[in-house]
Amino acid sequence: MNSHHRQVFPADFVWGAATSAYQIEGSTTADGRGQSIWDRFAATPGRVVDGTNGDVATDSYRRMPEDVALMRELGLTAYRFSVSWPRVQPDGAGKFNQAGLDYYGRLVDELLGAGIDPWITLYHWDLPQALEDDGGWPERDTAYRFAEYAATVHGALGDRVSRWITVNEPWCAAFLGYASGEHAPGRRDPGDSIRAAHHLMLGHGLAVQALRDNGGDTKIAVGLNFYPVHAVSEDPSDVDAARRIDGLQNRFFTEAALRGAYPADVLDDLSAVVDLGFIRDGDLTEIHQPVDALCVNYYSSFTVTGRGNGRASAAAAPTGAGSPWPGSGHVAFEVGGLPVTGMGWEIDADGLRTTLERLSEEYPGLPLVVSENGAAFDDAPANGGGNGVEVADPDRREYFEIHLRACAEAITAGVPLAGYFAWSLMDNFEWAWGYTKRFGLVHVDFETQRRTVKESGRWYADWIRAGIGRK
Ligand code: NOJ
Repeated sequence: MNSHHRQVFPADFVWGAATSAYQIEGSTTADGRGQSIWDRFAATPGRVVDGTNGDVATDSYRRMPEDVALMRELGLTAYRFSVSWPRVQPDGAGKFNQAGLDYYGRLVDELLGAGIDPWITLYHWDLPQALEDDGGWPERDTAYRFAEYAATVHGALGDRVSRWITVNEPWCAAFLGYASGEHAPGRRDPGDSIRAAHHLMLGHGLAVQALRDNGGDTKIAVGLNFYPVHAVSEDPSDVDAARRIDGLQNRFFTEAALRGAYPADVLDDLSAVVDLGFIRDGDLTEIHQPVDALCVNYYSSFTVTGRGNGRASAAAAPTGAGSPWPGSGHVAFEVGGLPVTGMGWEIDADGLRTTLERLSEEYPGLPLVVSENGAAFDDAPANGGGNGVEVADPDRREYFEIHLRACAEAITAGVPLAGYFAWSLMDNFEWAWGYTKRFGLVHVDFETQRRTVKESGRWYADWIRAGIGRK
């Protein structure tokens, strides 16, 4: 461990790990939970590469106290988890399910009892299927339903939870869900994906207002995924490709949420795909609400060309999908030449530093939080590490170390970075990749549900302890 870098983090820095409901909870029919688009999607043959689903996942709905004990063992100061919308409102409209709300109440109490700060994500991709049956995110009404659900969850937990994230990675929910079809609901309609992106952002803005109306000590953020985008050459078509991808991946969402306008060049690209008349007067004002932080999910960077017949996406999709880049013309993804993770994602720790620095230059004064960062690798099985280590994952440990150093450099450069959440607390259901990709600090044996802290988890625990003097 490089103690110089470690010492840069302030004493009140938030040290966490993250998960999401569908990826870990299981118990998908327990206590009145309704169906989500991921239940339906995963049950459709050919959608998830290993034919699995979230019916059991890591069984965390039932093993919640055990999992909180693990977090405590790791010394986490915060835990980011998501609320399953169909668990608390089975049809996404109308009646709420008290048993679902009670589960999250127990989780929050368990966390607080362990001295761990709960960070709630309100939407991490598991839309109630009933709302998809009514048109899903391409429909404007879904945004209003989301705000109502958000207000109810906050009403139940807002007395004990101060950190709220509205939507997680709306890029993925919109473009993997409705354009490429790699994610639920698996539709492939570029126009609908753009409508979905707008309504996810509208949902964000309406939810912020609903939470503020509830009052209390509430700090709100939106959770976006960022990639630095490099042109493969200075050829104008490559430079334009980089502009388009940066626009759709990064600027579209930040500019709407933080400045109240979609970037003109992106609107121009998108208007070639769909009539943008669904963006109504006043919508951007609804979306542009004051937030207390920006949550940054960071994994990798992109290198693009405007000329090739290269790949339509930066990394292989597991189950043959369309392009998630509506209106992006002849853009193709190139290999940037860096080492890759088990997802095939290039490891670019410096890209995290530049992302944080860019955001703090563009939106000065706004606190940033790395709300996800991590890597999948094919780990040795539990008991396979030798030297007293049960699960050896030196590549993941190294990934965390270089990215934390990048965070330290950003802080030194003046970035107001307030926290870091490793993705993920434990191995879990990696969406269309099923259980074939492991991201955890903690290994999960999916047969027995045995949890084993990996070498990377022990390393992270040491890193946290070294700075905050907590036992
Ligand atoms: C981002 C998503 O929020 C999370 O659900 C996913 O598992 C990780 N990236 C890794 O792909």
